[in-house]
Amino acid sequence: MHSDIAKVLVSKEEIDQICKTLGVQLTKDYEHKKPLLVGLLKGCIPFISDLARQIDLKFDIAYMSVSSYHGGIASSGDVKIKMDLDISIKDRDVLIVEDIVDTANTIVTIVELFKHRGAKSVKMVTLLDKPEGRLRPFQPEYVGKVIPKEFVVGYGLDYNEYYRNLPYVGVLKPEIYNNQ
Ligand code: PRP
Repeated sequence: MHSDIAKVLVSKEEIDQICKTLGVQLTKDYEHKKPLLVGLLKGCIPFISDLARQIDLKFDIAYMSVSSYHGGIASSGDVKIKMDLDISIKDRDVLIVEDIVDTANTIVTIVELFKHRGAKSVKMVTLLDKPEGRLRPFQPEYVGKVIPKEFVVGYGLDYNEYYRNLPYVGVLKPEIYNNQ
């Protein structure tokens, strides 16, 4: 698995530091609120797990399964809700937790949906932001690291469902997806 990676872009140590920094900031910003963290499956799992333990507040966590890549390397633009939330977000301060924002097709769709459902506030924290990939304007409120326009895997991010278990974020060798 590691030999399919051209280079490490965000090391495990850097991810740990990012989670600590974001956790301190979120603890401060949501001090007098009881936020609802919404993780967008599947990619969010390692990040929400590490980040949540750095937020020193009471909060709820819920999950929603959303997909637009359908296993490949390019967004289809067709954002599908595969599993919806099991609680109401009406009048809640929602913080969406994502592994990456690329085209922003996913997050823009979900933010619009949550506002329509009556959330009091909707903000997002993402581990990675790839602004050069945008197809729709969107600026996340909390960003771990801005990365260049390269196809990355690991720490939740997949290619054909593989590599999510890498402890770091790395650039996949192009021959891996060119040979498919
Ligand atoms: C990935 C990622 C984000 C989305 C970001 O999910 O987890 O949800 O793509 O890309 P965008 O800004 O171009 O919309 P994916 O659809 O691959 O599903 P997954 O989390 O189950 O891997």
